[in-house]
Amino acid sequence: MRDVHDTQAPSAVPDQADAAAEFRRLMGLFATGVCVVSVNSGKDAIAAMTVNSFVSVSLDPMVVCWSLQNSSSQFDVYARADRFAVSILAQDQAELATRYAARGDTQLRELDFTQSAQGLPVVAGALGHFECQKHSDHLVGDHTMIFGEVAGLRIYSALDGRISPLGFFNGKFCSIEQ
Ligand SMILES: Cc1cc2nc3c(=O)[nH]c(=O)nc-3n(C[C@H](O)[C@H](O)[C@H](O)COP(=O)(O)O)c2cc1C
Repeated sequence: MRDVHDTQAPSAVPDQADAAAEFRRLMGLFATGVCVVSVNSGKDAIAAMTVNSFVSVSLDPMVVCWSLQNSSSQFDVYARADRFAVSILAQDQAELATRYAARGDTQLRELDFTQSAQGLPVVAGALGHFECQKHSDHLVGDHTMIFGEVAGLRIYSALDGRISPLGFFNGKFCSIEQ
């Protein structure tokens, strides 16, 4: 798993656990933005989860994807949802991102959300959000990739000039300067 540029001595007995740790370490060096995926989960109930696996998949049609861990306590809620929203977090929303990275929805605060044009919960104060109609899902190892066709979107950052996103790098939230 190590390459010629790595100055550390290889461990004596490289095993599956070492490989997984290196995979995580290297993926941690891939800086990302931070999103919250949110769904209507019942009458007057919402569920929300911080994610950084969000990617753009297709422009025509507009399709996005995120990856849901199969061990999530909320797996059924997200896997069964016909529609979901993805809010792109702003630099000052690290505390909110931590709140929605907690197990379950015990820390959910209704004030963190507002309703999108199509009636989905979206994060207030985010840079913008996508409203998605579930396209398909695909089980891959210990995660399920959830694809969504973009049914609506809104960009807020242009309105108030605030365009600094929240970033995630090397296991920590960070700011991304332009
Ligand atoms: C920056 C960051 C990114 C995350 N990205 C994902 C992700 O893409 N998919 C996922 O299933 N969980 C992701 N998580 C973990 C979830 O936010 C949450 O902690 C996890 O689902 C545990 O709660 P649960 O078991 O109730 O789902 C991420 C957490 C953090 C802090």
